[in-house]
Amino acid sequence: MAIRNIIQIGDETLRKKSFEVTDFGPKTHALLDDMKQTLKKAQGAGLAAPQVGVLRRIFIVDTEDGYFECINPQIISSSGKQNGDEGCLSVKGKYGKVERPMRVKVKAFDRYGQPYIVKAEGFLARAFCHENDHLDGILYIDKASQVMEEK
Ligand code: CO
Repeated sequence: MAIRNIIQIGDETLRKKSFEVTDFGPKTHALLDDMKQTLKKAQGAGLAAPQVGVLRRIFIVDTEDGYFECINPQIISSSGKQNGDEGCLSVKGKYGKVERPMRVKVKAFDRYGQPYIVKAEGFLARAFCHENDHLDGILYIDKASQVMEEK
């Protein structure tokens, strides 16, 4: 396992659309393990593969509601609204107010290629939406009503 470099805004990789994953083997597992370690060190809530320079449809989320590895994820339904502060490990020193759905249902594949569905609410739903956007080159600052400097 290794800590990977988290690329920062300005790098065009963050703006690209990621590709579907077809490999559920050791290379993808190594990437996921590295991402987990990288996220832990950065003390974030989520990390998407393009943030470590890999244009594959993979993200991980780690919150008090659990740890999730999502491959080829799709938000299959959403409801409600929430407005709250959001930050991103690729946009250091800033945070912004972003409106997100209150609840989402996500379909994804695990690292072994098994499909699963996870229902999320509140902060976890926000995290899933934020990370999923990364796979399409979208950053929270594109959606934020306000972006502020961290004190
Ligand atoms: Co982010």
